[in-house]
Amino acid sequence: KSIFGLLGHPVGHSMSPLIHNDAFISLGMEAEYHAFDVTPELLKEAVAGIRALGIIGCNVTVPHKVAVMKYLDEIDEQAQLIGAVNTIVNDNGRLIGYNTDGKGYVESLLELEPVLSEKRVLIIGAGGAARGIVTALLGRGIASLTITNRTIEKAKPFKKLAETFDTRTVLMTREEAESKAKEFDVIINTTSVGMSPHIEQSPFSLENISDHVVVSDLIYNPIETALLKDARKRGAKTLNGVGMFVNQAALSFEQWTGQKPNREKMKQLVLKQLG
Ligand code: ATR
Repeated sequence: KSIFGLLGHPVGHSMSPLIHNDAFISLGMEAEYHAFDVTPELLKEAVAGIRALGIIGCNVTVPHKVAVMKYLDEIDEQAQLIGAVNTIVNDNGRLIGYNTDGKGYVESLLELEPVLSEKRVLIIGAGGAARGIVTALLGRGIASLTITNRTIEKAKPFKKLAETFDTRTVLMTREEAESKAKEFDVIINTTSVGMSPHIEQSPFSLENISDHVVVSDLIYNPIETALLKDARKRGAKTLNGVGMFVNQAALSFEQWTGQKPNREKMKQLVLKQLG
Protein backbone atom coordinates (compact mmCIF):
# COMPACT_ATOMS: atom_id res chain seq x y z
CA LYS A 1 0.00 0.00 0.00
CA SER A 2 1.09 3.58 -0.67
CA ILE A 3 1.34 5.66 2.50
CA PHE A 4 0.19 9.26 2.87
CA GLY A 5 0.01 11.33 6.01
CA LEU A 6 -0.43 14.48 8.01
CA LEU A 7 2.37 16.13 10.01
CA GLY A 8 0.99 18.26 12.84
CA HIS A 9 0.90 18.72 16.59
CA PRO A 10 -1.66 17.93 17.86
CA VAL A 11 -3.48 15.89 15.20
CA GLY A 12 -5.93 13.89 17.30
CA HIS A 13 -9.05 15.72 16.10
CA SER A 14 -8.05 15.95 12.44
CA MET A 15 -10.69 14.88 9.94
CA SER A 16 -8.11 14.51 7.15
CA PRO A 17 -7.58 10.72 7.62
CA LEU A 18 -11.35 10.18 7.40
CA ILE A 19 -11.85 12.00 4.09
CA HIS A 20 -8.64 10.89 2.38
CA ASN A 21 -9.06 7.22 3.32
CA ASP A 22 -12.66 7.27 2.13
CA ALA A 23 -11.51 8.75 -1.19
CA PHE A 24 -8.82 6.06 -1.58
CA ILE A 25 -11.43 3.34 -1.02
CA SER A 26 -13.95 4.99 -3.37
CA LEU A 27 -11.34 5.21 -6.13
CA GLY A 28 -10.15 1.63 -5.52
CA MET A 29 -6.64 2.76 -4.63
CA GLU A 30 -4.26 0.68 -2.50
CA ALA A 31 -3.35 3.53 -0.17
CA GLU A 32 -3.62 4.67 3.42
CA TYR A 33 -3.51 8.08 5.13
CA HIS A 34 -2.24 8.43 8.72
CA ALA A 35 -2.14 11.39 11.10
CA PHE A 36 1.39 11.66 12.55
CA ASP A 37 1.77 13.66 15.75
CA VAL A 38 5.17 15.32 15.30
CA THR A 39 6.59 17.68 17.93
CA PRO A 40 8.56 20.69 16.62
CA GLU A 41 11.88 19.21 17.84
CA LEU A 42 11.37 16.12 15.68
CA LEU A 43 10.07 17.80 12.50
CA LYS A 44 13.41 17.49 10.69
CA GLU A 45 13.55 13.74 11.44
CA ALA A 46 9.93 13.33 10.38
CA VAL A 47 10.68 14.89 6.98
CA ALA A 48 13.73 12.63 6.62
CA GLY A 49 11.32 9.80 7.42
CA ILE A 50 9.15 10.70 4.42
CA ARG A 51 12.17 10.04 2.20
CA ALA A 52 13.41 6.97 4.12
CA LEU A 53 10.01 5.27 4.25
CA GLY A 54 8.90 6.24 0.75
CA ILE A 55 5.81 8.09 1.93
CA ILE A 56 4.23 9.46 -1.27
CA GLY A 57 2.61 12.61 0.03
CA CYS A 58 1.89 14.54 3.21
CA ASN A 59 -0.22 17.36 4.48
CA VAL A 60 1.35 19.77 6.93
CA THR A 61 -0.62 21.58 9.59
CA VAL A 62 -0.16 23.70 12.73
CA PRO A 63 2.52 24.38 13.95
CA HIS A 64 4.76 23.18 11.09
CA LYS A 65 3.56 25.00 7.95
CA VAL A 66 6.41 27.53 7.94
CA ALA A 67 9.13 25.52 9.73
CA VAL A 68 8.86 22.56 7.32
CA MET A 69 9.93 24.68 4.32
CA LYS A 70 13.64 24.60 5.10
CA TYR A 71 13.72 20.78 4.96
CA LEU A 72 12.19 20.51 1.46
CA ASP A 73 14.04 20.38 -1.88
CA GLU A 74 11.77 22.74 -3.78
CA ILE A 75 8.93 25.15 -2.96
CA ASP A 76 6.28 25.95 -5.55
CA GLU A 77 5.86 29.63 -6.47
CA GLN A 78 2.47 30.11 -4.79
CA ALA A 79 3.72 28.51 -1.55
CA GLN A 80 6.77 30.79 -1.67
CA LEU A 81 4.56 33.87 -1.92
CA ILE A 82 2.40 32.63 0.94
CA GLY A 83 5.46 31.68 2.95
CA ALA A 84 3.93 28.40 4.12
CA VAL A 85 3.45 24.82 2.93
CA ASN A 86 0.47 22.56 3.62
CA THR A 87 1.23 19.83 1.06
CA ILE A 88 4.39 17.81 0.33
CA VAL A 89 4.79 15.70 -2.79
CA ASN A 90 7.53 13.03 -2.76
CA ASP A 91 8.70 12.92 -6.38
CA ASN A 92 11.11 9.94 -6.34
CA GLY A 93 12.88 11.23 -3.25
CA ARG A 94 12.64 14.90 -4.17
CA LEU A 95 10.31 16.67 -1.74
CA ILE A 96 8.30 19.52 -3.21
CA GLY A 97 6.17 21.89 -1.08
CA TYR A 98 2.85 23.34 -2.20
CA ASN A 99 0.06 25.32 -0.54
CA THR A 100 -3.55 24.44 -1.38
CA ASP A 101 -5.24 26.39 1.46
CA GLY A 102 -5.81 29.69 -0.35
CA LYS A 103 -6.84 28.08 -3.64
CA GLY A 104 -9.16 25.76 -1.72
CA TYR A 105 -10.80 28.73 -0.04
CA VAL A 106 -11.19 30.71 -3.27
CA GLU A 107 -12.79 27.72 -5.00
CA SER A 108 -15.39 27.56 -2.22
CA LEU A 109 -16.04 31.31 -2.53
CA LEU A 110 -16.44 30.98 -6.31
CA GLU A 111 -19.30 28.53 -5.76
CA LEU A 112 -21.20 31.39 -4.09
CA GLU A 113 -19.78 34.33 -6.09
CA PRO A 114 -18.66 33.21 -9.56
CA VAL A 115 -17.22 36.63 -10.52
CA LEU A 116 -14.65 38.13 -8.14
CA SER A 117 -13.06 40.73 -10.42
CA GLU A 118 -15.37 43.55 -9.26
CA LYS A 119 -15.32 42.65 -5.59
CA ARG A 120 -14.01 44.88 -2.83
CA VAL A 121 -12.71 42.45 -0.22
CA LEU A 122 -12.15 42.99 3.50
CA ILE A 123 -9.87 40.53 5.29
CA ILE A 124 -10.03 40.37 9.09
CA GLY A 125 -6.69 39.12 10.44
CA ALA A 126 -3.12 39.14 9.16
CA GLY A 127 -1.69 35.74 10.10
CA GLY A 128 -0.73 32.72 8.03
CA ALA A 129 -4.29 31.87 7.01
CA ALA A 130 -4.88 35.44 5.79
CA ARG A 131 -1.71 35.30 3.71
CA GLY A 132 -2.82 32.12 1.93
CA ILE A 133 -6.19 33.57 1.08
CA VAL A 134 -4.92 36.99 0.08
CA THR A 135 -2.33 35.44 -2.25
CA ALA A 136 -4.96 33.27 -3.94
CA LEU A 137 -7.47 36.15 -4.25
CA LEU A 138 -4.86 38.52 -5.69
CA GLY A 139 -3.76 35.86 -8.16
CA ARG A 140 -7.36 35.54 -9.30
CA GLY A 141 -7.97 39.30 -9.48
CA ILE A 142 -10.22 41.41 -7.22
CA ALA A 143 -11.15 45.11 -7.33
CA SER A 144 -9.55 46.09 -4.02
CA LEU A 145 -8.24 44.66 -0.80
CA THR A 146 -8.64 46.04 2.71
CA ILE A 147 -7.03 44.42 5.72
CA THR A 148 -7.83 44.96 9.36
CA ASN A 149 -5.93 43.35 12.21
CA ARG A 150 -5.76 43.73 15.98
CA THR A 151 -2.04 44.47 15.54
CA ILE A 152 -1.97 46.76 12.51
CA GLU A 153 1.84 46.47 12.25
CA LYS A 154 1.45 42.80 11.28
CA ALA A 155 -0.75 43.71 8.30
CA LYS A 156 1.97 45.86 6.67
CA PRO A 157 3.68 43.01 4.71
CA PHE A 158 0.36 42.48 2.91
CA LYS A 159 0.71 45.86 1.21
CA LYS A 160 3.92 44.69 -0.42
CA LEU A 161 2.32 41.43 -1.47
CA ALA A 162 -0.61 43.29 -3.05
CA GLU A 163 1.73 45.66 -4.91
CA THR A 164 3.25 42.72 -6.79
CA PHE A 165 -0.26 41.98 -8.04
CA ASP A 166 -1.11 45.64 -8.72
CA THR A 167 -4.19 45.62 -6.49
CA ARG A 168 -5.29 48.65 -4.50
CA THR A 169 -4.71 47.81 -0.84
CA VAL A 170 -5.63 49.66 2.33
CA LEU A 171 -4.93 48.86 5.99
CA MET A 172 -7.54 49.93 8.52
CA THR A 173 -8.27 49.69 12.22
CA ARG A 174 -11.25 47.53 13.10
CA GLU A 175 -13.26 50.61 14.10
CA GLU A 176 -12.65 52.28 10.74
CA ALA A 177 -13.49 49.12 8.79
CA GLU A 178 -16.67 48.64 10.84
CA SER A 179 -17.80 52.19 10.13
CA LYS A 180 -17.10 51.72 6.38
CA ALA A 181 -18.52 48.18 6.24
CA LYS A 182 -21.00 48.99 3.48
CA GLU A 183 -18.08 49.58 1.09
CA PHE A 184 -17.17 45.86 1.09
CA ASP A 185 -18.67 43.16 -1.12
CA VAL A 186 -16.92 40.25 0.61
CA ILE A 187 -15.88 40.13 4.29
CA ILE A 188 -13.63 37.24 5.36
CA ASN A 189 -12.67 36.39 8.93
CA THR A 190 -9.31 34.61 9.05
CA THR A 191 -8.74 34.95 12.81
CA SER A 192 -9.56 32.33 15.40
CA VAL A 193 -12.08 34.61 17.11
CA GLY A 194 -15.35 32.66 17.43
CA MET A 195 -13.76 29.22 17.28
CA SER A 196 -15.01 26.59 19.71
CA PRO A 197 -15.07 26.84 22.74
CA HIS A 198 -15.34 30.67 22.50
CA ILE A 199 -18.36 30.47 20.25
CA GLU A 200 -20.03 33.65 21.50
CA GLN A 201 -17.19 35.91 20.27
CA SER A 202 -17.39 37.86 17.02
CA PRO A 203 -14.36 39.54 15.42
CA PHE A 204 -16.35 42.29 13.66
CA SER A 205 -19.54 44.34 13.91
CA LEU A 206 -21.82 43.96 10.87
CA GLU A 207 -24.05 46.89 11.74
CA ASN A 208 -23.16 48.87 8.59
CA ILE A 209 -22.94 46.12 5.93
CA SER A 210 -24.47 46.47 2.47
CA ASP A 211 -27.42 44.32 1.38
CA HIS A 212 -25.40 42.33 -1.20
CA VAL A 213 -22.41 41.40 0.97
CA VAL A 214 -20.98 37.89 1.41
CA VAL A 215 -19.75 37.25 4.96
CA SER A 216 -17.34 34.37 5.30
CA ASP A 217 -15.49 32.63 8.10
CA LEU A 218 -12.64 30.13 7.78
CA ILE A 219 -13.76 28.51 11.02
CA TYR A 220 -15.79 25.29 10.65
CA ASN A 221 -16.17 24.41 14.32
CA PRO A 222 -18.77 25.64 15.07
CA ILE A 223 -20.23 25.34 11.58
CA GLU A 224 -22.03 28.66 12.06
CA THR A 225 -19.93 31.12 14.07
CA ALA A 226 -21.41 34.12 15.92
CA LEU A 227 -20.23 36.26 12.96
CA LEU A 228 -22.07 34.12 10.40
CA LYS A 229 -25.19 33.89 12.56
CA ASP A 230 -25.29 37.68 12.79
CA ALA A 231 -24.73 37.96 9.03
CA ARG A 232 -27.52 35.50 8.24
CA LYS A 233 -29.94 37.38 10.51
CA ARG A 234 -29.12 40.56 8.62
CA GLY A 235 -29.92 38.85 5.31
CA ALA A 236 -26.33 38.48 4.06
CA LYS A 237 -25.06 35.49 2.11
CA THR A 238 -22.72 33.41 4.30
CA LEU A 239 -19.90 30.92 3.75
CA ASN A 240 -18.35 28.76 6.48
CA GLY A 241 -14.94 27.03 6.50
CA VAL A 242 -16.10 23.52 5.56
CA GLY A 243 -15.69 24.16 1.82
CA MET A 244 -12.15 25.43 2.29
CA PHE A 245 -11.20 22.41 4.39
CA VAL A 246 -12.62 19.98 1.85
CA ASN A 247 -11.17 21.79 -1.16
CA GLN A 248 -7.63 22.07 0.25
CA ALA A 249 -7.77 18.33 0.95
CA ALA A 250 -9.07 17.53 -2.53
CA LEU A 251 -6.39 19.72 -4.17
CA SER A 252 -3.66 17.98 -2.15
CA PHE A 253 -5.09 14.60 -3.13
CA GLU A 254 -5.02 15.63 -6.80
CA GLN A 255 -1.45 16.85 -6.46
CA TRP A 256 -0.32 13.48 -5.06
CA THR A 257 -2.34 11.08 -7.17
CA GLY A 258 -3.51 12.87 -10.31
CA GLN A 259 -7.03 11.68 -9.43
CA LYS A 260 -10.03 13.78 -8.43
CA PRO A 261 -11.77 12.72 -5.22
CA ASN A 262 -15.52 13.30 -4.82
CA ARG A 263 -15.63 16.64 -3.00
CA GLU A 264 -19.34 16.43 -2.21
CA LYS A 265 -18.81 13.08 -0.49
CA MET A 266 -15.89 14.53 1.47
CA LYS A 267 -18.10 17.44 2.53
CA GLN A 268 -20.89 15.15 3.71
CA LEU A 269 -18.40 13.15 5.81
CA VAL A 270 -17.08 16.32 7.42
CA LEU A 271 -20.57 17.66 8.14
CA LYS A 272 -21.59 14.33 9.67
CA GLN A 273 -18.48 14.35 11.88
CA LEU A 274 -19.14 17.95 13.00
CA GLY A 275 -22.83 17.19 13.32
P1 ATR B 1 -3.29 31.50 11.36
O1 ATR B 1 -2.25 30.68 10.66
O2 ATR B 1 -4.51 30.71 11.77
O3 ATR B 1 -3.65 32.73 10.58
P2 ATR B 1 -1.68 33.16 13.07
O4 ATR B 1 -0.67 33.32 11.99
O5 ATR B 1 -1.21 32.94 14.48
O6 ATR B 1 -2.66 31.95 12.76
O7 ATR B 1 -2.64 34.46 13.02
C1 ATR B 1 -3.71 34.63 13.91
C2 ATR B 1 -4.53 35.84 13.51
O8 ATR B 1 -5.68 35.92 14.37
C3 ATR B 1 -3.80 37.17 13.66
O9 ATR B 1 -4.31 38.07 12.72
C4 ATR B 1 -4.20 37.57 15.08
O10 ATR B 1 -4.10 38.95 15.37
P3 ATR B 1 -2.68 39.59 15.87
O11 ATR B 1 -1.82 39.68 14.65
O12 ATR B 1 -3.05 40.91 16.43
O13 ATR B 1 -2.14 38.64 16.90
C5 ATR B 1 -5.65 37.16 15.08
N1 ATR B 1 -6.20 36.95 16.43
C6 ATR B 1 -6.00 35.89 17.23
N2 ATR B 1 -6.68 36.04 18.39
C7 ATR B 1 -7.33 37.25 18.32
C8 ATR B 1 -8.20 37.98 19.17
N3 ATR B 1 -8.55 37.51 20.37
N4 ATR B 1 -8.68 39.17 18.73
C9 ATR B 1 -8.34 39.64 17.52
N5 ATR B 1 -7.52 39.01 16.67
C10 ATR B 1 -7.02 37.83 17.04
